[in-house]
Order: sequence, then C-alpha cells, then structure tokens
Amino acid sequence: MKLLEEKILAEGHALDENILKVDSFINHKVDPQLMKEIGKEFAEHFKNQGITKVITIESSGIAPALTTAIEMNIPLVILKKQPSQVLNQDLYHTEVASFTKGTSYELTLSMHQIDENDHVLIIDDFLANGEAATGALRLIRKAHATIAGIGVLIEKAFQPGRSKLEEQMIPVYSLARISKLGKDLIEFVSEHQE
Ligand code: G4P
Ligand code: NA
Ligand code: NA
Repeated sequence: MKLLEEKILAEGHALDENILKVDSFINHKVDPQLMKEIGKEFAEHFKNQGITKVITIESSGIAPALTTAIEMNIPLVILKKQPSQVLNQDLYHTEVASFTKGTSYELTLSMHQIDENDHVLIIDDFLANGEAATGALRLIRKAHATIAGIGVLIEKAFQPGRSKLEEQMIPVYSLARISKLGKDLIEFVSEHQE
C-alpha cells in the first residue's frame, strides 16, 4: 500500500537492524485518516469470504482492526493480555513468547465472544516472528472458529512470521513488506521479489 509505505519513509525510524519505530502514526500517536484507508484496503482484500468477525490483539492492533470492522460491517473482538481481575471467568488462555521483548505473556479470549459459527480475520500492526499471531490462532481454534486470514500493516519479511503462518495454510496479507532495516535505512520488498 503506497500510502503506508510513504508514511513509513517519511516518519518511521529504524532503531537498528531489527526494530522500526512508528510511534508518530501507529504505536503511540495514531493517524486516523491512514487507519481509515487501511480499513478499506483490508475490507476490499478480504471481501466475499463470509467473514463474521475481526480479531486483534491489544493494544496497537485495535485502531486498524476497528476501521476494518467498520468497513466490513462486522464486530471486532480484542484478545487481551491482561484479563480483568474481576471478570476472569470463562476464558480461553494461551501463553505467547515475545522475541522482541524477551518475555512471555498470557493471551485470553472470552468463551462468549467467538464460537464455531465464526469465520474470523486477524488484524495486527506488526508481523515479526509470528508468535502473537500464532497465539491468536490457538485461541481461535479453542473456540472452534475458522480462520480466513491475517492482515498486518507492517511485515518484517526478514523474520520468520510469514512462513510460520503459511505452513499452517493461513493466508497472510501485509500492506508494507520490509526487506531490510539499518541505521537510517528502510527498504521494502520490491515487486519482482514478491
Ligand atoms: P511476534 O509476535 O511477531 O513474534 O513479535 P514479537 O513478539 O517480537 O513482538 C512483540 C511486540 O513488539 C508486539 O507488540 C509487536 O507488534 C511489536 N513489534 C515487533 N517488531 C516491531 C518493530 O519493528 N517495531 C515496532 N514498533 N514494534 C514491533 P506488543 O508488545 O504486542 O504491543 P502493542 O504495541 O500491540 O501494545
Ligand atoms: Na502489536
Ligand atoms: Na506493538
């Protein structure tokens, strides 16, 4: 998606070979007009597949997942990293390792929000090692729902997330695919490499 690539080049900063900082339009401040266009793009790509719900992981996935859900006119379900201390009944749980942070966390889904009649689309901001997405897939399978695919804003194509998901036959659609990061360097996967 040209608009997102231009925004990344204008405002993104590669901290090192691994991490792209996008705090001014995705992770800290959010660009609502960009999120609106992203929602339209995902809705167009995943249309006519009988998708019943959009699923995301808190917190940075929520903005683009919401605009996608609005465009598709379906509900959004948010997977939680810190389940409510008072409303912790009837949850599916799974443990997710974060490579970037070197820690792990518990991801949860309420048993009441998704069931075997759902066909879901996962939306998230980054695809890196695919651990978060794989954790989301485990929760969706526990709920016996089916999976239409995964849409991400930024794929770090030099990390193994995509291949982990494609091994499980999950279609992956990324709006910007980064092939290389370095000090003051951001390179996208070029058309002929795709
Ligand atoms: P993985 O799920 O693909 O295996 O990724 P990993 O555990 O390494 O990612 C942990 C967190 O770091 C995730 O956010 C992910 O979106 C984010 N992340 C991964 N690579 C980058 C990057 O290059 N730049 C930025 N800005 N973020 C990256 P999170 O901890 O779940 O937080 P939230 O922002 O969604 O609240
Ligand atoms: Na995220
Ligand atoms: Na993040």
